[in-house]
Amino acid sequence: MSTGWHKKLRSIQRTAQADDFIEEDDYKLATYISNGEFSYEKYKEIQTIGNKAKIENQWVGEKHIKILAKHLCDRHPGPIKYGVCHGTRRGKEQEWFGKHIGGDADVFGTEISDTATDFPRTVQWDFHDIKPEWLGHFDFIYSNSWDHTYDPKLLFTTWASCLNKNGWLLIDHGWNYEPGRVDLLDAFGISEDSLISLLNRECSEFGKVEDVIDGGHHKRLPIRTIFFKARS
Ligand SMILES: C[S@@+](CC[C@H](N)C(=O)[O-])C[C@H]1O[C@@H](n2cnc3c(N)ncnc32)[C@H](O)[C@@H]1O
Repeated sequence: MSTGWHKKLRSIQRTAQADDFIEEDDYKLATYISNGEFSYEKYKEIQTIGNKAKIENQWVGEKHIKILAKHLCDRHPGPIKYGVCHGTRRGKEQEWFGKHIGGDADVFGTEISDTATDFPRTVQWDFHDIKPEWLGHFDFIYSNSWDHTYDPKLLFTTWASCLNKNGWLLIDHGWNYEPGRVDLLDAFGISEDSLISLLNRECSEFGKVEDVIDGGHHKRLPIRTIFFKARS
């Protein structure tokens, strides 16, 4: 079923021009301009086509989530009750966090594509948006899909606003998040140091980066995970 979606994705990627991106030294962002202005429809369509083309893939493995769950439980002062994983495609991250945190942790995931409803504990939802009841609610928010944002500042401040006191943002970084990897699907790339600076600068009213840990490997290359902690 994914072959047709692969063709569509390749044909979209072929149309990319240099002015589809804003580029600085260690920062690159797709703009999704259509007829002179930002097109949310274009963004959502490309993300959905990418999701369907890669629907059989799982990016991170259970070992990675187990490492993060352990660090989270070691560092958090009380039990972990509420978590959300953003951009989860097949629903595995929420399953594995639930398993490795244990107890009665309630963890679900968001996914922009309409394939969301095919997977357990997954809501079809754009991770730039929030429900009022999510404000100050979560003990942790995890994502390896933040590089699909069209607006990093909006994204990270929105997520930080959803942490409860002492809550944590867990943000993966590694080879695939560098600016050189950006295209019309993987919309945002930034170096690890600049991502940490961005989080500390833009989300300073909510907390700060406390830890950066080795999170295991993806295809033999290291994954690092940034732990941003909300103020108590
Ligand atoms: C690189 S994949 C990672 C999937 C999964 N986390 C994994 O480890 O396999 C990125 C996922 O994020 C989804 N996504 C992209 N933009 C999104 C958005 N704005 N809101 C929610 N999900 C989004 C894509 O559809 C895709 O399934």
